[in-house]
Amino acid sequence: MSDSDHRPIVDEPLPLPQRWGEAELTRLTTMVGQSSLFYWKGPQTTALLEEFRRHYPLKHCFPCSSGSASLHIAVAALRLRPGDEVVVPPITDMGSLIGILYQQGVPVFADLDPRTYNLAPAAVRAAITPRTRAIMAVHLAGNPCDLAALSLIAREHHLALIEDCAQSWGARWQDQPVGTIGDFGCYSFNDFKHVSCGDGGMVGTNDDQRGNGLSRWGDKFYNRIVGGRDPEELAPNYRMSEPQAAVAAAQLTKLADIVARRRDAGDLLTSSLTGTLGVVPPFVAQGNTHSYWFYMLRLELAHFKATRDEVAAAFQAEGIACGAGYIPRPVYRYPVFRNHNFFGGAWPIRDAGYTSMDYRTVTCPVAEAILADCIVLRLNEAMHDDYIQKVARAVRTVAGRLLR
Ligand SMILES: Cc1ncc(COP(=O)(O)O)c(C=O)c1O
Repeated sequence: MSDSDHRPIVDEPLPLPQRWGEAELTRLTTMVGQSSLFYWKGPQTTALLEEFRRHYPLKHCFPCSSGSASLHIAVAALRLRPGDEVVVPPITDMGSLIGILYQQGVPVFADLDPRTYNLAPAAVRAAITPRTRAIMAVHLAGNPCDLAALSLIAREHHLALIEDCAQSWGARWQDQPVGTIGDFGCYSFNDFKHVSCGDGGMVGTNDDQRGNGLSRWGDKFYNRIVGGRDPEELAPNYRMSEPQAAVAAAQLTKLADIVARRRDAGDLLTSSLTGTLGVVPPFVAQGNTHSYWFYMLRLELAHFKATRDEVAAAFQAEGIACGAGYIPRPVYRYPVFRNHNFFGGAWPIRDAGYTSMDYRTVTCPVAEAILADCIVLRLNEAMHDDYIQKVARAVRTVAGRLLR
């Protein structure tokens, strides 16, 4: 049989969901009749907050312009001093780190759990210094972090726990929604997430002390309640406006269905792959719900006579929508960190002696290993069980063919 005759095991096009429709149109249609598109007391923003709190009952919430903005607001609300440290994972989006750096804080990278790809509590403990102020728990791909262990460490050391839920809409830790366990929950509505309004974010907290002024950290530190412009602090404009809020509010009415389908699809893939020699599905701790923003598995390369990239190419040849690897390298190896190039080629807090952090010397071996042997499979709510079974069959077949 020639290559052109090869019929892939996944022999149908990648199913894609219809993401926006009547619900969004209805809200947008109402919105165009409004006299203002400003967020403060805006009807779409009010609806968004209501929908959001149905899923995440957080007392103080602020809809903002992106997930990065939500994380920046949470960090700003901690009022870091220059050189204060935040423990972070090395596999994440830049959005987790931008706010820390802009607030003159220092991201300190701690290594990961090899099975969940989330922060390893022991590594977090080892990264704590007298300058540590917070831990940023990124629930990667939709798999909840070990929040029992991270909360305990945070309490013991009087640290804030920020949950980066950008990738984990609908995920649950011990049946509680992620983002409601730590001190802050931060969410993204960017185009690639479970729910989207193009770009947007949400930050929330149950802490009255930090929560009462939360919106000010994303609204030039203006006080909309008493009015007037007399800011006591420096804060950017990260507001979300009514058009985004309209779409985001409508999207959240679909979240439960989207997540239920993704969870079932991801869990089915894992149960179908369990026991396949050389293939390690993601580990979900007992009692947690993974919401599968993507499906990342690892290969035990010692079992294969092919490289990771060759295995990924063979998966693709069988019709699997996947990519070799995730981010190209751990974040601390990005040129911006390697060169300490944060502000015009310099890092003022380091130059002024507030930190001696040197990112050129950082290594997290588990994160490096994960990025060297992982494969990311696309997963979405339009994939029916039959399709997932074909994906699983294709993975098992390719693995069997390429084993030593
Ligand atoms: C883990 C994580 N944190 C933060 C962000 C930033 O979100 P946004 O793109 O909305 O700024 C992302 C976005 O990809 C993310 O995946």
